[in-house]
Amino acid sequence: KSIPTTLIPGDGIGPEITESVVEILDAVNAPFAWERHIAGMAAVDAVNNPLPKDTIDSIRKTGLALKGPLTTPVGGGFKSINVTLRQEFGLYANLRPTRTIIPGGRYEDINLVIVRENLEGYYAAMENTIPADGDPKGIALSGGYVSRKECNRIVRFAFDYAVKNNRKKVTLVHKANIIKQMCGMFLEEGRKVAEEYKGRVAVDERIVDACSMQLVTNPWQFDVIVTTNLFGDILSDQAAGLVGGLGLAPGANISDKAAVFEAVHGSAPDIAGKGIANPLALLLAAVMMLRHVGRQDLADRIDSAISSVITSGEVRTGDMGGKASTKDLTAALKQKLV
Ligand code: NAI
Ligand code: MG
Repeated sequence: KSIPTTLIPGDGIGPEITESVVEILDAVNAPFAWERHIAGMAAVDAVNNPLPKDTIDSIRKTGLALKGPLTTPVGGGFKSINVTLRQEFGLYANLRPTRTIIPGGRYEDINLVIVRENLEGYYAAMENTIPADGDPKGIALSGGYVSRKECNRIVRFAFDYAVKNNRKKVTLVHKANIIKQMCGMFLEEGRKVAEEYKGRVAVDERIVDACSMQLVTNPWQFDVIVTTNLFGDILSDQAAGLVGGLGLAPGANISDKAAVFEAVHGSAPDIAGKGIANPLALLLAAVMMLRHVGRQDLADRIDSAISSVITSGEVRTGDMGGKASTKDLTAALKQKLV
């Protein structure tokens, strides 16, 4: 086990699904040497800080983390853990693959990836109110910005990802016809970067509202989508909805300093401790992590185990319409590993 990796089991169902995922990774002899650390409610209870310094230091050292879902503490003035992580490590790229896993759903054979810019855009919290109409807060303002450097970097990330993962096309999604400055700059840099990949990866453009419609009418036309923060947030949840919801959706937050892999869903307090949580979203995140460290071989083995368990349909957890426990599904997955 040669790759030091931070493991944050998380809250609610976090420890249950983490245990399942670690068991499957062990079964293929994955190279991760775990450094276990706490965050979220577990950390608030233990040290009154949702993101303790030890945890941050570990990620700084390893540059690699698998993170279970965290319960966001309400009240107490704690800052969002995800936002803190993003800022601390400059995690500029949010990567959300969307693939049909359960056959017989709304759409067969979907296989696309959304790359969302994670630091700029309308999430920059440039917010204010000003008086109007006799109301001291009559007008609400929320601004945003993008930098040329970041537009270039996120589109380059998408094209590099396409090259490494044998994908053929990158679609630049924007609203440059209306949001002329921010989206205009994104599109301009996007076209420049695309030029450098000419002959290797095709480029395409969509205005975000049309893209949203086409994701529903013909999602198969998309391969890699790259877009600014807010559009990426919305489109990636929309895409997850096409293939069975957030319960099967993995994600990664990536920079040159660190990469944090996670399930998109939360800590599911309603089913925590019952042993019935679906570990697949976190397992798919672990598969992304294997690909990130260049172990396509192990990633492929786990991917095919998932496909054969899901396709046979005998062992599914409640959220997938079955009756299996987390442990049943884990055992079935291990048995299908070849
Ligand atoms: P949630 O995703 O935890 O749960 C929504 C519904 O989906 C629940 O009915 C839950 O039982 C079900 N569900 C979620 N994951 C499942 C799984 N793996 N297997 C089976 N069923 C599953 O969203 P909710 O309830 O809005 O949030 C709960 C907590 O999680 C909150 O504190 C929230 O802030 C936090 N959260 C954390 C995230 C993260 O750390 N990345 C992301 C989203 C929410
Ligand atoms: Mg979102």
